[in-house]
Amino acid sequence: MSIDLSVNVGSLALHNPLMTASGCSGYGKELAAYDDLSWLSAIVGKSISREPRLGNPYPRTCETPSGMINAIGLPNEGWESYTRNTLPLMRELVRGKPTKIVLNIVGHDLDEYTWVAERANDESDIAAVELNLSCPNVAGGLQFSTTADGCEKLVKAVRKVLKLPLIAKLSPNVTSVADIARAAEAAGADSLSLINTVLGMNVDWRKRKALVANGMGGLSGPAIKPIALRCVYEACKAVKIPVIGIGGICTADDVLDFMVCGASAVQLGTVLFVEPDAPQRIARDLKERMREAKVEKLSSLIGTLRAREGA
Ligand SMILES: Cc1cc2nc3c(=O)[nH]c(=O)nc-3n(C[C@H](O)[C@H](O)[C@H](O)COP(=O)(O)O)c2cc1C
Repeated sequence: MSIDLSVNVGSLALHNPLMTASGCSGYGKELAAYDDLSWLSAIVGKSISREPRLGNPYPRTCETPSGMINAIGLPNEGWESYTRNTLPLMRELVRGKPTKIVLNIVGHDLDEYTWVAERANDESDIAAVELNLSCPNVAGGLQFSTTADGCEKLVKAVRKVLKLPLIAKLSPNVTSVADIARAAEAAGADSLSLINTVLGMNVDWRKRKALVANGMGGLSGPAIKPIALRCVYEACKAVKIPVIGIGGICTADDVLDFMVCGASAVQLGTVLFVEPDAPQRIARDLKERMREAKVEKLSSLIGTLRAREGA
């Protein structure tokens, strides 16, 4: 039985549904040391801003039951160095492979986001731009993700200048994911990705101290998968554009859980810290799970969940 793992996220044709999640594997070279990047359909780099950023004070991460908290604060080299040093390296890494490059961008305000987005148009080999409108670890970082109005304004402003496919990455730290998803769609996003991390906290009572210097941070890993599934399911019901599922994915079954809830593709985040060559295992297992279920085309499973009456 021949198995077809290919999926489409709007105009993005992917040979399988496995992308990296921003911030969990740098810009590709960190993974290339462990695995052939061909197992991934896209590398989503760490968020890039106009100016370089140092990020938050250390410690920036800690472990939690079934996950981790990070308060990294979006350190990055800034646009100029990214295009001079990192993007050329990414192009080399994916040359001859089916793996696409997705640029994830962040800004302090509309002006910074649009500045970066506009310049992305001029760079070859960027398949899509993902807007990080939802980082919980930066002062003011939630302003665009927690209200439908804020989200709509940002997506609209970026849409106006960006010619590439636009993915709006949403936060779970909101009252209504559906409202924000609809706002992003109305403003012209081509697809959505969710979720970013869940606002959380971990402490050492003996030291009377939080375990990350920032106090609070973003929870990720298997602990957040049920929250992510719920958010993806709600977003898929609210919009017509495709949705990319993110949150605690570690196995082929996790991928399939997201896809039956409506996700057209997925991103792998925290699992890559534990197992940098997980994409290979997950891609192989996906084929196995599909053979067992006698499903030839992965895309035929998207959105096939039979929700309980009234759920
Ligand atoms: C250490 C770390 C850094 C992250 N940095 C970014 C980032 O720069 N931009 C972004 O959009 N998301 C960032 N994220 C969020 C992830 O892309 C992802 O949405 C989240 O971790 C949930 O997926 P997971 O449970 O598979 O890790 C980061 C997550 C972690 C754990």
